[in-house]
Amino acid sequence: MRASQAIRVADLPRMHGDPCTMIILGAGGDLTRRKLVPALYQLAKDGLLDEQFSVLGVAREPSDAETFRATMRAALDVSDEVHGVDDAVWARLERRMWYLAGDFTTMATYDAIGQRLASIEGKLEVSNRLFYLAVPPSVFEPIITHLSGSGLAPRISDVSVRPWVRVVIEKPFGRSLATAQALNTVVQGALAECQTYRIDHYLGKETVQNLLVFRFANSIFEPVWNRQNIASVQITAAETVGVERRGKYYEEAGVVRDMFQNHLLQLLTLTAMEPPVKMSADAVRDEKVKVLHAVRWFTPETAAKWAVRAQYAPGVLDGERAVPGYREEPDVSPASNTPTYAAMRLQVDNWRWKGVPFYLRSGKRLAGRVSEIAIEFRQPPILMFGSHMREGIEPNVLVLRVQPNDGMSLRFEVKVPGTARALTPTIEVSTVDMDFTYADAFGEFSGPAYGTLLLDVMIGDATLFTRSDEVESAWKVTDPLIDYWEKNPPAAMPTYAAGSWGPACADELLRSGGFRWRMPGSSA
Ligand code: BG6
Repeated sequence: MRASQAIRVADLPRMHGDPCTMIILGAGGDLTRRKLVPALYQLAKDGLLDEQFSVLGVAREPSDAETFRATMRAALDVSDEVHGVDDAVWARLERRMWYLAGDFTTMATYDAIGQRLASIEGKLEVSNRLFYLAVPPSVFEPIITHLSGSGLAPRISDVSVRPWVRVVIEKPFGRSLATAQALNTVVQGALAECQTYRIDHYLGKETVQNLLVFRFANSIFEPVWNRQNIASVQITAAETVGVERRGKYYEEAGVVRDMFQNHLLQLLTLTAMEPPVKMSADAVRDEKVKVLHAVRWFTPETAAKWAVRAQYAPGVLDGERAVPGYREEPDVSPASNTPTYAAMRLQVDNWRWKGVPFYLRSGKRLAGRVSEIAIEFRQPPILMFGSHMREGIEPNVLVLRVQPNDGMSLRFEVKVPGTARALTPTIEVSTVDMDFTYADAFGEFSGPAYGTLLLDVMIGDATLFTRSDEVESAWKVTDPLIDYWEKNPPAAMPTYAAGSWGPACADELLRSGGFRWRMPGSSA
């Protein structure tokens, strides 16, 4: 499918970020290298960063601006977030990148940040500050407290006040409802909600944002978007990567904290929410919170019946690369019971969705990298065509592909040409797909998700960020399952071979409900 007018995305007017200094706390970590700097580069390339935009990287390791710039450039060269690096664009960006070494738990670091900011801002006309917490969650609290105590990030409750100070907090926001509430108390004690940007990078992905447009700018889908017409919803986030260098974090987190509490529940809320009264950050988030409130909580009985967990065993990726199992990864206990895969059935107990199962699954080291939402529609009430009269036809499925091949497809039934000769009831039916991809319709269409979200912070739009009550409501959904699993370790942890599509118990979960998983990434 093509866009109905010849639109070149590069030609569209896009709002460009306010001038600011971005202070990356945790600039020595993976996130900065792999996501933040590639996103900033892409924004610079697209001309969306202000001329005065600057970066101050802060990390524990003693280093200097030169080395920081060189490390970031090397990371950019191997990044799969950008395709090729334009030396001139990079040169303009790196000129404004600085580095400071410091320990986040001591006030001296914040004094040093203040001095450095004074010297950076002294040369500029503006002093907007964007603090980005790219650090392990254990240091969120001390950083927020110090940012506030040092006066670097004063509370500013009015979004129109200039210069602004905004703070981006990475996930995971807490590791349970109680810890998220405690962290919210610290954050809200120091900052206004309108300055606080809890990031979930899935919300920056194009298809995820398009979900709202798709649902609410078209009139043909909304009338069938309900329990009368939808049989089930499947939400998949499959990854090929293992835990890589993050064994320590992952042992503490596991797949439910790492992927479900945030990314998968975000996809669920956008799929299931009611139309917001307007497109404002709070109106959208109000509706998402209502969905989370309607999700039925797990009890020990339903946790045992409607959720499964597993761990990857050694296997082969792409038919050629042998990879170790989870228990052999660095910083992982050889007896670990941390799940790297989970699948679950959730019920959204509201007027629209009552009785429609939402099946969610996510795992590491699977056969493909695919994130998608598949809406399976109910069968027609009577089947009257050919051999399908008895066994049933394939249900209509609408697939919203988050990655790769961002786009959507709709599967429906058509008559096979040449069948149905006169007076014989032998009309044969076949399944076809109608397909839309962003790349086909718009050419190269968007940069990394982090770029979209960073730009939103610079503009001051919090729609795609998680509000305090939203993050707590999401923990309320996942906590009972995590608790049940932690209190009831399996006698033998189910496994799946790395490079496969997951454990057999996940297939059984759907079979028992009368469904089966789609092959991820297949067209509808
Ligand atoms: C992160 C998780 O939030 O999302 C990672 O911590 C995961 O474990 C990643 O790999 C997946 O993001 P994406 O954009 O690659 O699908």
